Amino acid sequence: MAHFNVTFKPDNITLTIHAGSSILEAAAQAGIILNTVCGGKGLCGKCKVKLEDGSQVLSCQYKISSDLVVTIPPAARFYEQKILTAGIEAKQKTELDIYKKYSKKTADPILGLAIDIGTTTVVAKLLDLKTGSCLATAADTNPQSIHGDDVISRIQYAASSDKLAELNSLIVGCINELIEKLSGQAKIGPEQIFEAAVVGNSSMNHLFLKYPVSSLGKIPFKPYSTEAKDLPPEKLQININPAGNIHTAELIAGFVGADTTAAALAVDIENQNEITMLVDIGTNGEIVLGNKDKLLAASCAAGPAFEGARITCGSRAVAGAIEAVVFADDALDIDVIGDWPARSICGSGLLDAAAVMLRLGVIQANGRFANPGKLTEKIRKRLLVIDSQPAFILADTGEARVYITQSDIRQLQLAKAAIRAGAKILQKNLGVDDGDIEQIFLAGAFGNYLRRESALKIGLLPDVQPEKIRFIGNAALSGAQLILLGSYWRNRAKSLAKKIEYIELANDKDFQAIFVEAMRF
Ligand code: FES
Repeated sequence: MAHFNVTFKPDNITLTIHAGSSILEAAAQAGIILNTVCGGKGLCGKCKVKLEDGSQVLSCQYKISSDLVVTIPPAARFYEQKILTAGIEAKQKTELDIYKKYSKKTADPILGLAIDIGTTTVVAKLLDLKTGSCLATAADTNPQSIHGDDVISRIQYAASSDKLAELNSLIVGCINELIEKLSGQAKIGPEQIFEAAVVGNSSMNHLFLKYPVSSLGKIPFKPYSTEAKDLPPEKLQININPAGNIHTAELIAGFVGADTTAAALAVDIENQNEITMLVDIGTNGEIVLGNKDKLLAASCAAGPAFEGARITCGSRAVAGAIEAVVFADDALDIDVIGDWPARSICGSGLLDAAAVMLRLGVIQANGRFANPGKLTEKIRKRLLVIDSQPAFILADTGEARVYITQSDIRQLQLAKAAIRAGAKILQKNLGVDDGDIEQIFLAGAFGNYLRRESALKIGLLPDVQPEKIRFIGNAALSGAQLILLGSYWRNRAKSLAKKIEYIELANDKDFQAIFVEAMRF
C-alpha cells in the first residue's frame, strides 16, 4: 500500500500515513484533535482545513492520495476550547481513611487521582491522600471525539467489540498521558499514585470499564451496570502503582451517570432543607431536584445546539467565537474569545443573542422573527435574508459575518425546551412550582459561562431570582475528590445514587404538551 507524508501547519508535524486515510485520521495520529461535531459524517463543516493550493476541504472526507501540507485554522481545533478545571471546593470535612490502606506498606507521600471523564474533556487532579491537598491539575480533550462529539455517536461506534476496545484504549491512553503530565508537574513518580476515583457519564463510565454500551443506545436506555467498581490498575491498564486500586462511582440510571452522583455529593444535595435544583447543561443535560426528604433526577436530550452544532455560525467556545452579546446605550456589543475578530458564536453567545433579540423585539415569544416594520432603523439594518431565511447580523468583519437565522432560533428553542421540560416534569413529580425552588446550582463548562439573566430571559431555567442561581464549575470533579479520599464519601455516594429516584421523561403522559409549552420564550 502506498504511503504519503502529511505535514500539519502551523505545528510543523509530519507523519507518514497510508493512502486512503482521511486527513482527520492523520491529524488524530499526529495528536491534533479537530472539531468533529457531526462525528465525521461530512455534515457539519466544522473540520475544514486548508491545503497548499488554498482550497478548503473537510478533513473527515478528504482521502489522502499524495503528499500534503495541511494548515489547520484555529476554529477547526478542538483543544482551543476553554477547558474547565476549576470546581467548587467542597466544604465538608473529609475523613481521609483511604490513605490508611497504603500507609503501612509505603512511605509518604501517598498520592491519588480524581478523574472526571467528560464526553468532551477529561480532567484529572493529583491529590495527597493524607492531607487531601491538590498537587496538580491537568486536562485534555477526550480523544474519543474523533468518533463523534456526542455519546450517541460513540455508542453507535462501539457496537462491535473491537470498536469498543478502540474507544477504551483511547480513553486509557488519554488518562495515562494525564498521569504523566501530573507526575511531571508535581515532580513525582507515577508509582507514588496508589488510588484513583473515576467519574463520568454512563457512556464514558462504560467505555472506560469496557462494558458493552449497546443497551444505552436503545429504549429503555439501561446501563449494563450501575454499580461502583474497584479494580487493580493493571486490569484497566492505568499506569499507577500496580498495588493500588481504581474506584469508579455508582451511576444513578440511564443517562444519569456517576458524574451526576459526584456532583450531587459535592453540593450535599441530600442534606438541603431548601428545594434545590442541580443542573448540568450539555448535549445531554442532567437535572437533580429535591432536598433531604426526596430527590428526583432526569436526563434531557438537549442536543448539541449549546455547543454550537447545528447553528449556522455556531462553534464551541473556541478563539474567535462570540461568547457574549449585550445591548446597552442603544448599541449592540459583543465579546469575542481570544484576540481574534468574530467568526463564529458559541453557546453562551447564542443564549445572549436570543435574549437580546427578544428584548429588542426582533423575535417574538413563539420564536418567529417579528415584522421588521416595528423595529428601529438601527436594528432593521442588521436584518437580512440569508438562504431564504430572516437573519440577524451580530458582527460583520468583512472577512466573516456572524448571524443568527430563524432555524438557529428553532434549534435553540428545541435545546432549551428539552432542559426546561425536564425540569418541569421533575417539579410536577415533586409537587413544587418555580417559586418553591430556593437554589439552582449550574454545573459543567457551559453552565459556567452563560449569563443568568439571558438563561432566565429565554426560559432555559425555572423562573427564579437571578441570585438564586449559583455557578459551581466542575462539580463532578469536586465530588470525585471526595470519593477518592474517604470511604465515608464512597458510602454516601452509594446511598445517594440509590436515594435519587430516576424519572424517565418520555414515560410522562404530559411530556409532549410540556415540551411544546417550554418551546416558548
Ligand atoms: Fe467533518 Fe462534520 S463535516 S466532522
